[in-house]
Amino acid sequence: MKIYNLGSLNIDYVYNVDHFVSAGETLASDNMQTFAGGKGLNQSIALSRAGAKVIHGAILGRDGEFLKQIMSESGVDVSRIKTLNQSSGHAIIQLDKNGQNSILLYGGTNRLIDREYIEQFLFDAGENDILLLQNETSNLAVAFEIAASKKMQIAFNPSPFDNSIQNLPLSQVKWWFCNEIEGEALFGENMVENFTQNYPDSNLILTLGDKGCVFKNCDITFKQPIYKTRVVDTTAAGDTFTGYFISAIAEGRGIDYALKLASKAASITVSRFGAAPSIPYINEFTIDN
Ligand code: RIB
Repeated sequence: MKIYNLGSLNIDYVYNVDHFVSAGETLASDNMQTFAGGKGLNQSIALSRAGAKVIHGAILGRDGEFLKQIMSESGVDVSRIKTLNQSSGHAIIQLDKNGQNSILLYGGTNRLIDREYIEQFLFDAGENDILLLQNETSNLAVAFEIAASKKMQIAFNPSPFDNSIQNLPLSQVKWWFCNEIEGEALFGENMVENFTQNYPDSNLILTLGDKGCVFKNCDITFKQPIYKTRVVDTTAAGDTFTGYFISAIAEGRGIDYALKLASKAASITVSRFGAAPSIPYINEFTIDN
C-alpha cells in the first residue's frame, strides 16, 4: 500500500503576541520566526518521521526551496513537487502566551494545482493506496474523482473548513480527520451518531483538544485521553496526529495502537515551537500498549 499526500506547503511567519489582534487594533510583536509549515507538508513529515514512505504532491514557489529541503531531509519523496516562478503559500501565525494560535493563510502556489498536475502526480497509484488530502490546495474535486477511478482510499482532513467542502463527494472518504468544529459543521450536533448513519463505510477520527480523541465507525468506538505535557505551541499538533495515525494504519496496526501513537506524538509537537520542526521522530518516544 503506497501513501500519496497532495498537500500544501507554507512558509509560516510566527509572531509572538500578548493576545490576538482585534478589529481596528494595531499590536506590536517583539519576536518573529520563520518555520516550514502547511498542513500538507506537516502531515508528510509526520508520516515520514513515523517511519512510513510517503510521496508528496505540491506546487512550490521560487521562495520555498527550504520547504522541500526539510521534507527531503525527513525522508519524504519530494521528486514530484513542481516549482514555479511565483510566490509560495504562506501563513501569518499569531502565537499567544498559552501556546494557542490564530492563522491567516495565503494560498500562493498551493492554489495552482490543476487536473494535469494531479493526473501526473497519481500516475502510478492503484487500488487501496492512500490519498491524503487537506483543504489548502485547489481542485480537490478532481483529486477525489481520480482517486475514485483508481479505487484509492481517501484520507481527508477538512481543514481549514469552508462551505466548498460540502460540494465534494464525501461518501468516498474512508478516513476522516476532524476537530470538534469541523465535525459539527459536517455532521451536525450529534456528529458521531449522524456520522455512522450517513457514512456507514467510513471511519471518523475526531480530535477534541485537551479532551483527547475518539475513533468511530459502524462497528467500534475507541476513546483516547491526551498525554499531558507543557503546551508552548499547538501549531501542527493535528497534522502530527494525522500523519502518525495513518502510518500505523498503513503498517496494519490496530486502532487503539494508532490512537495512542498519534496522541503521544502530538503531545510532543505541542511542547515545542514551530510547525514542521516540532514534529518528533518515532525513535524519540515510546508508548505503553
Ligand atoms: O496546521 C498547521 C498549519 O496550518 C501551519 O503550519 C500553517 O501553515 C497552516 O497551514
